[in-house]
Amino acid sequence: MLVALLRRFARPYRRPLAAVMALQSVSTLASLYLPTVNATIIDDGITKGDTATIVRLGGLMFGVTALQVLCAVGAVYFGSRAGMGLGRDLRSAMFHRVTTFSEHETGRFGAPTLLTRTTNDVRQIQFLIQMGCTVLVAAPIMCVGGIAMAIRQDVGLSWLLLVSVPVLVVANGRIISRTLPLFRSMQRLIDNINRVMREQLSGVRVVRAFAREPFERRRFDDANVALSGTAQAAGNWQALMLPVATLTINCSSVALIWFGGLRIDSGQMQVGSLIAFLVYFAQILMAVVMATMTVMVLPRAAVCAERITEVLATTPAVSNPSNPLRPIGPAGVVRLAGASFRYPGADRAVLQDISLTAQPGTSTAIIGSTGSGKSTLVALICRLYDVTTGAVLVGGVDVRDRDVEELWSSIGLVPQRGYLFAGTVAENLRYGKADATDDEMWAALRVAAADFVHQHADGLQLRVAQGGVNFSGGQRQRLAIARAVIRRPAIYVFDDAFSALDVHTDALVRARLAEITADATVIIVTQRISTILDADQVVVIEDGRIVATGTHELLLTESATYREFAASQSLDAEVGGAR
Ligand SMILES: Nc1ncnc2c1ncn2[C@@H]1O[C@H](COP(=O)(O)OP(=O)(O)OP(=O)(O)O)[C@@H](O)[C@H]1O
Ligand SMILES: [Mg+2]
Repeated sequence: MLVALLRRFARPYRRPLAAVMALQSVSTLASLYLPTVNATIIDDGITKGDTATIVRLGGLMFGVTALQVLCAVGAVYFGSRAGMGLGRDLRSAMFHRVTTFSEHETGRFGAPTLLTRTTNDVRQIQFLIQMGCTVLVAAPIMCVGGIAMAIRQDVGLSWLLLVSVPVLVVANGRIISRTLPLFRSMQRLIDNINRVMREQLSGVRVVRAFAREPFERRRFDDANVALSGTAQAAGNWQALMLPVATLTINCSSVALIWFGGLRIDSGQMQVGSLIAFLVYFAQILMAVVMATMTVMVLPRAAVCAERITEVLATTPAVSNPSNPLRPIGPAGVVRLAGASFRYPGADRAVLQDISLTAQPGTSTAIIGSTGSGKSTLVALICRLYDVTTGAVLVGGVDVRDRDVEELWSSIGLVPQRGYLFAGTVAENLRYGKADATDDEMWAALRVAAADFVHQHADGLQLRVAQGGVNFSGGQRQRLAIARAVIRRPAIYVFDDAFSALDVHTDALVRARLAEITADATVIIVTQRISTILDADQVVVIEDGRIVATGTHELLLTESATYREFAASQSLDAEVGGAR
């Protein structure tokens, strides 16, 4: 997973990454060379009192150090650029993939984890790139080179390496095996925090109204404590690494000085060599520590890569057919033929064997108790979901065979929970029609009886907060209606879109709609009997099945369910008023 992902996304950054590796190699080699020069200064310069040599070699040391610093800075610079660039590409790829998702996929993942995956998970990969191409290059060179240089200085002491390096490796290995599982669960815990936070934010009014704050706070605390607990445990183990390394290095240094001292006494070794040996020793052990640190980044990045790939590899269930068909006959004909639908993961079908036809120039009212499947039916017509069995035909062609964009452009949907985007009223209306003129916007707002826009000084530039929270429920609904009306579609679908309007406004909006929808197909999900009275066809849904279809009069005599419904709406009073 990780390798495939990196291969795909690191391709554009081959050059900077190669530069990083080259620079890092030079920098590492330079730092390996320094102790040797130092040893020569001590052995040939200081002990012999040769100032000229000291100055010459000192100059050389200075030059090498400068080179090393330059290369190290360059490596970090290019490494960061490549890492950041790669992160940006990855995030953009994720975002574009997620925008193609249908309800189906977004529902399956859930928003919180999609958020974590595009932000935190990508950052882990980014971090791996930065760490990886500097440390992973430096550590092996440092380790092997250090050993070679140390042996060159003095073979007699190199047996100490055989003790210290394995001790350090084993100790670090144990620490890593403790931390890995912790890291793995951390990504999931971050998802958790996001989820609680989001729920809390979007439900803030409900939470307040029902005085659930203490409960919510506790829920957040739980998630928060779980995350910080895990991070702390992982941090504790990680914190142990450096002391262990230092302890090993220092113990080895004591041993080195002890045994080196003996060798110097017996004339087998020079002081400069011993000092160089000490430095190499420290470098080798540090290389081991660095390598293990990177090894620790790897598994976490691997988990993240898996999670990212999962998103990138998901093909949306609702996608364009390879050979889209044009509608046959009038574009406004909507027909459901034995359509059944089951939500992914649900154990029973929400809609069963639904058959109905809606013709252009007519209106169809869909009624039914809450949870009977009305919104689901609407979602099928708009192809937000695909039917499980049966078929939905719009314009005489199965919606699965039609171009999705074209299909959507022929439908004006006002969803039950209309969503407004942050921005202005004009921007929101342009979601309905991208190139709408001001006149068209005002016309659409008039149909939707959204006078409040006209009355406001800002007019079309009236600010809309995220989700439209700065509007009342009824104002939101009217803006959503305007957004659907502005595109003058062949099919209008209103899912309980008038529920928040008062009776007067409701009547006004429907009267104005009637003028412009004369030739269109209108499908209205509603609870109000007054709306139903105007419909050419009424469909009664109960528990996912159509129990009756017909006109109001017909249903009154034929359907017990409908009579009950009508009675519950105190039909007599309303009929008296309306007729
Ligand atoms: N995304 C979903 N995943 C799983 N089940 C769902 C989903 N959306 C709705 N359902 C289920 O499908 C059933 C029908 O829901 P639907 O929203 O179509 O009802 P409705 O008739 O529109 O109700 P209301 O009048 O309250 O709007 C419900 O029982 C609900 O539990
Ligand atoms: Mg509904």
